[in-house]
Amino acid sequence: MIEMNALEKTYITGAVEFQALKLIDLTINKGEYVSIVGPSGSGKSTMMNIIGCLDIPTGGSYKLDGEDVGKMSSNQLADIRNRTIGFVFQAFNLLPYATAYENVEVPLLFAKANNKERERRIIELLNGVGLGNKLNNKPTEMSGGGRQRVAIARALACNPDIILADEPTGNLDTASGSEIVKIFDELHEMGKTVVMITHDMSIADKTDRIIKIRDGLIESDGYHKKAS
Ligand SMILES: Nc1ncnc2c1ncn2[C@@H]1O[C@H](COP(=O)(O)OP(=O)(O)OP(=O)(O)O)[C@@H](O)[C@H]1O
Ligand SMILES: [Mg+2]
Repeated sequence: MIEMNALEKTYITGAVEFQALKLIDLTINKGEYVSIVGPSGSGKSTMMNIIGCLDIPTGGSYKLDGEDVGKMSSNQLADIRNRTIGFVFQAFNLLPYATAYENVEVPLLFAKANNKERERRIIELLNGVGLGNKLNNKPTEMSGGGRQRVAIARALACNPDIILADEPTGNLDTASGSEIVKIFDELHEMGKTVVMITHDMSIADKTDRIIKIRDGLIESDGYHKKAS
């Protein structure tokens, strides 16, 4: 469970302070399917970085599965990220000259999975995103949709409970974007917690809960019947 209480994030650049998140109270339960929307600069990525333990709050608290993330060392943060969270980014962030197989292998090497287990898992993951026939293709040889599929397979390598996606369809055409959202639907069906930042309301409408952020505050937060 994701739990923020009176959470604040202030960035300090030289003599300038900027409060990117202001007294946020937010709970996201295990298995929820959530989108975060809001104008550019409203604090969406800041919130995602905190949810994903890439950054810590400067005030209030953030608890992940009951553990106070703000009090963790950088080693503990790295450990909780590796065990619990899969990240998907707008720009894919793949190794462009490594194959799909090798890209998905990276987190499994860090996790010290043995050869056999790695191979089994990589093939299973790439099959799962519809790339079973592209194991040896490089991102440079793939469409944007294909690249994002590789990135999703990589995010899932260590079987995280939570998938965090920052504008995952931002670089894709509408059709490939819908295909990617279908994969998130499936992950939600499998019981994963999925939190997706998007500018696109037609994509947000496909999730169960829409959190709107403006100027570092939650402007609205509601469940709705999702569009199919
Ligand atoms: N590392 C940083 N140092 C200083 N200010 C920052 C830093 N990161 C973000 N900010 C500022 O905090 C505010 C929120 O940034 P954030 O990246 O969370 O917005 P966003 O909602 O994700 O925007 P976008 O839709 O453009 O991605 C912005 O005004 C930004 O300039
Ligand atoms: Mg952002």
